Amino acid sequence: MCGIVGYIGKREAEPILVEGLRRLEYRGYDSAGIATLTGPHLHLRKRAGRSADLARFLGEKPAPGHHGISHTRWATHGPANDTNAHPHLSTDGSIAVVHNGVIENYSALKRQLQAEGIVFYSETDTEVIAHLVEQHYKGDLVEAVRAVLNLLKGTYGIAVVSTNHPDLLVGARLGSPLVVGIGEEENFVASDPTALMGNTQRVVYLQDNQMCVLRPGNWHILDANHARIDATVHRIDWDPGDAEKGDFEHHMLKEIYEQPEALENAMRGRLSDEDCSAHFGGLNLDACALRRAERFIFTACGTSYHAALVGEYLFEEFARIPVEVEYASELRYRNPPMERNTIVLAITQSGETADTLAALRESKRKGHHTLALCNVVSSTIARETDGGVYLHAGPEIGVASTKAFSNQVAVLTMLALYMGRMRNLSSLQGSRMIKEIRALPDIVRRTLQCHDQVKEIAQKYHQVSNMLYLGRQYLFPAALEGALKLKEISYIHAEGYPAAEMKHGPIALVDENTPSVFLIPSGGVADKVMSNLEEIKARGGPVIAIAPEGDDELAKHVLSRADEVVFVPQMPDYLQPLVAVVPLQLLAYHIALLRGCDVDKPRNLAKSVTVE
Ligand code: AGP
Repeated sequence: MCGIVGYIGKREAEPILVEGLRRLEYRGYDSAGIATLTGPHLHLRKRAGRSADLARFLGEKPAPGHHGISHTRWATHGPANDTNAHPHLSTDGSIAVVHNGVIENYSALKRQLQAEGIVFYSETDTEVIAHLVEQHYKGDLVEAVRAVLNLLKGTYGIAVVSTNHPDLLVGARLGSPLVVGIGEEENFVASDPTALMGNTQRVVYLQDNQMCVLRPGNWHILDANHARIDATVHRIDWDPGDAEKGDFEHHMLKEIYEQPEALENAMRGRLSDEDCSAHFGGLNLDACALRRAERFIFTACGTSYHAALVGEYLFEEFARIPVEVEYASELRYRNPPMERNTIVLAITQSGETADTLAALRESKRKGHHTLALCNVVSSTIARETDGGVYLHAGPEIGVASTKAFSNQVAVLTMLALYMGRMRNLSSLQGSRMIKEIRALPDIVRRTLQCHDQVKEIAQKYHQVSNMLYLGRQYLFPAALEGALKLKEISYIHAEGYPAAEMKHGPIALVDENTPSVFLIPSGGVADKVMSNLEEIKARGGPVIAIAPEGDDELAKHVLSRADEVVFVPQMPDYLQPLVAVVPLQLLAYHIALLRGCDVDKPRNLAKSVTVE
């Protein structure tokens, strides 16, 4: 979603601002812009399209100066065009503003300004901020911005510069992340620390209602009362190399291949042979409080929601605790009766998803203990939750989540083991689970060997218009995830269903042009899934089966009925989603490539959805 980068110092601002935008590309956007200052002159350059389009434009018409702001916009108010791209200027052209978030009362503010004779150039909500700052400006830019913030309803991360202040950059945050980067005789602001990689490792995360005031040689943070505060400076320990593609053609493919290592990182130091259990440092809940928990609510969006669904099966099987899984966008406005001892667990890669954050805040407001599984260190959700567990998947840049999903499921599995050991799992059962969980990275490494075969299958099916993904029990959420992967990057319509539910409607879609991907389990309901497969075959639907190795009888049966069979290593049912999801990720990847889609930056999507 939208990205902000600002710079003030002694170097040329343009390359820093453009490189920062390039680093934020993965978040998803549809236009980009920059404004720099040289004395009283403001240089504004904006382009619909990619940051490369903006860079080309800057090649023809550079933006000079040591001070400026830049932005990638994901359209909310008005289409993606040059005019609606940020920065936006005040009428006199002295003030430039970039903004992430949504100003909910912008139309009332706009009407009021128009009645006073102000002409608007764009359809954005952001432009009101530029005009209001000009109106409130009486020689003090910081004071003018502060006054305007009091008028805004909604969410914002903003950066503001003015030709009247060649040595000043002002930022503010409410509900949309902003981070200050501290350098030597130079300072930065960005919506995501990734933008600052290569420039500084020292950052300050702004809290809601705080402002930052940056000059080349100094910086300070103001709280809601306009008082200076002592801010904590964090050190970013991610290696900038992590965010590059290396030898891979796309971030998504690199991240699919990083899954074994990511899983190792998620497990490191968390499995205890001595206790036959798992350990987590940051839950901030003692064993007694956890034992008292009567119910969990897992809340998340998108892929993280699918991980939560796997977690529901895990918690109910191993910890014997009732779990409800709620879309965060629904939970935030519902008012479900929740017992006192309900723990709310938010699951999120970015830690910035607006709906998940709102659901977490609402749960806290009601007095529930909140936990979060987060990948991005020091993200807003990571900071606001009462306790939590980091996923340690490393930076996930591809918009389509892959390794974060695997680590979410792996952490949920270890949490289920931990909770189970407090309740009803014996030490023997605990030890067996530890052994099985530890085998995962190598099993996933082995699963990746299906790559070439999946690539061939993609060749055969990449022109279809619809696909079904069917699985049962633990493999049902994996089916949902496979369908989501396909639709988000290849734009093929795909639906995930519990395999048996297909008879209650979706089977009407089945014909010779609608393939079904069947996720076959190893035991339990394998026969039932095979019957569902037969029902599809009987109606002429092509079948791609993802089946476990090691059961000759089952293998023979699947081979005789399915059009394609990808054999994957066999794991106990509760770990099979982590294996089955690998061919599904690769299938979506190759189908998208063959259809000429931009795999890492699919249309209309954003890596972290920071608006409602
Ligand atoms: C996954 O491929 C998607 N891009 C999307 O569904 C994502 O999982 C969702 O927006 C939630 O994001 P989060 O995990 O950062 O909260």
